[in-house]
Amino acid sequence: MKILEGKKGIIFGALDEKSIAWKVALKAHEHGAKFILSNAPVALRMGKIQELADLTQSKLVAADATNNEDLQVLFEESKKHLGGNFDFVLHSIGMSPNVRKNKHYTDLNYDWLHKTLDISAISFHRILQLLYKGDFMNQHSSILALTYIAAQRVFPDYGDMADAKSMLESITRSFGYHFGVKNKTRVNTISQSPTPTTAGSGVKGFDDFLGFADKMSALGNAPADACADYCISLFSDLTRFVTMQNLYHDGGFSSIGVTPDVL
Ligand SMILES: NC(=O)c1ccc[n+]([C@@H]2O[C@H](COP(=O)([O-])OP(=O)(O)OC[C@H]3O[C@@H](n4cnc5c(N)ncnc54)[C@H](O)[C@@H]3O)[C@@H](O)[C@H]2O)c1
Repeated sequence: MKILEGKKGIIFGALDEKSIAWKVALKAHEHGAKFILSNAPVALRMGKIQELADLTQSKLVAADATNNEDLQVLFEESKKHLGGNFDFVLHSIGMSPNVRKNKHYTDLNYDWLHKTLDISAISFHRILQLLYKGDFMNQHSSILALTYIAAQRVFPDYGDMADAKSMLESITRSFGYHFGVKNKTRVNTISQSPTPTTAGSGVKGFDDFLGFADKMSALGNAPADACADYCISLFSDLTRFVTMQNLYHDGGFSSIGVTPDVL
């Protein structure tokens, strides 16, 4: 069953085979979608993403998600290339210089905090605003971003990314209202289990934490591949009235107090 047949979109954030966005692109292709792949110019220069473009017969367009001009050009080029407006957009973008450089949450570098917020949260507002003002989305389209439960609970080593994720989820609700009223576009976040990717592994103690989270989940950690399936269902017409939600895709972790395994 191809549930995205005839649908067109943009996928931000595939860096290598481990990236969640990489898996989403492979599945979207399997499900019959046509899309543009986008990432920051520096990520495109690494060259790996060309493999994904070849595998999925999609075009690559560089755009720094913190730069409105890059984004505007991306949307115009994508519309031309795909032959119309978009049915889905994935924001799978995150980076914190403070986390990368092991700057403790009680000793943040504020220039880096601005970067964290700009790349990991405000970029989502920029994307939504440019899509909204430019009338780039089809009726009943779907826009998704990826988040983490550190927006609700304290995970000390997640640092300022927790603040970025809170903001990302808030933007999702606020803009979700306006986009819903405008053309029934839905806007949601998926709160994913810890996943071994470049961004994930950058968090201190990630490997130990992966094991803990796995034991604290009824189903175990949700793998990236299953996250991609969930994204596809949210891009499809099967979820037309789900909007402004933070949807947990975490094997039940978010509802558990304690498990015998952890004790
Ligand atoms: N890995 C996890 O444990 C986990 C858990 C929950 C949520 N997430 C979220 O999933 C999303 C995808 O991360 P991932 O785990 O697949 O890691 P990843 O490192 O593969 O992806 C992060 C992407 O962000 C891109 N990016 C960084 N700065 C950018 C910019 N200025 N403009 C455009 N793109 C930029 C990177 O090039 C990269 O492709 C992130 O939002 C992350 O926070 C990850």
